[in-house]
Amino acid sequence: MTSQLRILGLETSCDETAAAVVTRLPDGTAVTEADVVLSQLDEHSAYGGVVPEIAARAHVEALDTLIEEALTRAGITLADIDAIAATSGPGLIGGLLVGLMTGKAMARASGKPLYAINHLEGHALTARLTDGVAFPYLMLLVSGGHTQLVLVKGVGDYERWGTTIDDALGEAFDKTAKLLGLPYPGGPAVERAAATGNAKRFAFPRPLVGEARLDFSFSGLKTAVRQAAEGIAPVTDQDIADICASFQRAISRTLMDRIGRGLQRFHETYPDAVEPALIVAGGVAANQEVRRTLDELCARHRFRFVAPPHRLCTDNAVMIAWAGLERMALGMAPDDLNVAPRSRWPLDAGAQALLAYGKRGAKA
Ligand code: KG4
Ligand code: ZN
Repeated sequence: MTSQLRILGLETSCDETAAAVVTRLPDGTAVTEADVVLSQLDEHSAYGGVVPEIAARAHVEALDTLIEEALTRAGITLADIDAIAATSGPGLIGGLLVGLMTGKAMARASGKPLYAINHLEGHALTARLTDGVAFPYLMLLVSGGHTQLVLVKGVGDYERWGTTIDDALGEAFDKTAKLLGLPYPGGPAVERAAATGNAKRFAFPRPLVGEARLDFSFSGLKTAVRQAAEGIAPVTDQDIADICASFQRAISRTLMDRIGRGLQRFHETYPDAVEPALIVAGGVAANQEVRRTLDELCARHRFRFVAPPHRLCTDNAVMIAWAGLERMALGMAPDDLNVAPRSRWPLDAGAQALLAYGKRGAKA
C-alpha cells in the first residue's frame, strides 16, 4: 500500500488554463482539494475557433494566479505537495510550453519531482478517480480535437482501436453550427436547435457504417449539411432545427454502429469480463442524444456506461494531477527536467497516424 500522495496539476494544452490539487489516499481513492479552470471562450468566440497565439498569451497571463488560487483553496503551500504534474502534449505548442516550463521551474525551485503528462492519458484515467473503474475498459473521447476509441489496459498501456480519419466529432458540430449561422461553440447551439426539429427530414450520410475497422469520418456529413442548407436557402428557423435534428440522428446512428462493434470486440478480447465499462470523455459527452445512444448500446452489450461529471469530461487539471498520482503510486519514474512538449503525442505509440488526421492541430 502506498502512502498518501498530493500533486499539483497544470493544464494548458488548448483554451482552458487550469490548476488543481489532488490527494490520493492509501486506499487508492482521491480527494480533490482545489480545481480551478479559466476558460478562454470569450477570447476566441469572435474567431469561431481557438487562435493558438491568443491562447498561449492568455495562459501566460493567467497561470501563476491560478496556481496561487489552487494552493490557497487547498489551504497549503508548495512545500506541502509531493510532486508537480503538467500536461506536455498533445496540444497547441505555445500553451504546452507555458504549462510545462512553469511546472519545470516550480520543480527545480522546490526540489519536487515533475511528471510530464499526456493530456489523453488524463482523460483516459479520469473514470478511475470518479468511479474507481478497474482495468481493462474502453474509453470514447469525443472533443473538439479528438474522436478516439481507446482500450485502456493499465497506466501507460493503451491500444487505439479507432480514430477519425478527418474531422473530430466536436469539430463537425462546430462547423455545422457555423454554416447555419449558429454561435460558437457549435455543439450546445446545434443541440438546442435540434430539440424542436424533425430528425427524419434529411437523410444525411452515416460514414464508415458497416465497415469492420473502428475508425470514424465526419467531413462528408458536414458537406451534406452544407448542400442541404444551400438547396433550401434562405433557411428558416424550422429548417435549421430540422437540419440539426437530422445531423444529430446521423451521428447517433454512426456511433451506434462504430461503438457497437468496439464493445463486441472487447467481449471477444476479454471473454471473461463481467460488465466491463465504457467511459466517455470530451465536450461532446454533454450531448444528451450522444449519451442516450451510448447508454442504450451499453445496456445491449452488457457494459457499464460511465460518464464522469461534465466538469471532469472537458479540459481540467484534476485529471492531469490524477494521472501523475497514478504514475507516482505505481513507482513510475518522474520525468527529467529536459523533457520537451509534444504537439503530437499518440497514447498508443504503435498506432499508425492516419492520413489527414489532426489538421486542426492536436487539440484534445
Ligand atoms: O473537450 P472540450 O470542452 O474541449 C476541447 O475540445 O478541447 O470539447 C469542446 C467541443 C466543441 O467542439 C463543442 O462544440 C463540443 O465539445 N460540445 C458539444 C456539446 N457541448 C460541447 N457537442 C455536442 N453537444 C453538446 N451539448
Ligand atoms: Zn481534452
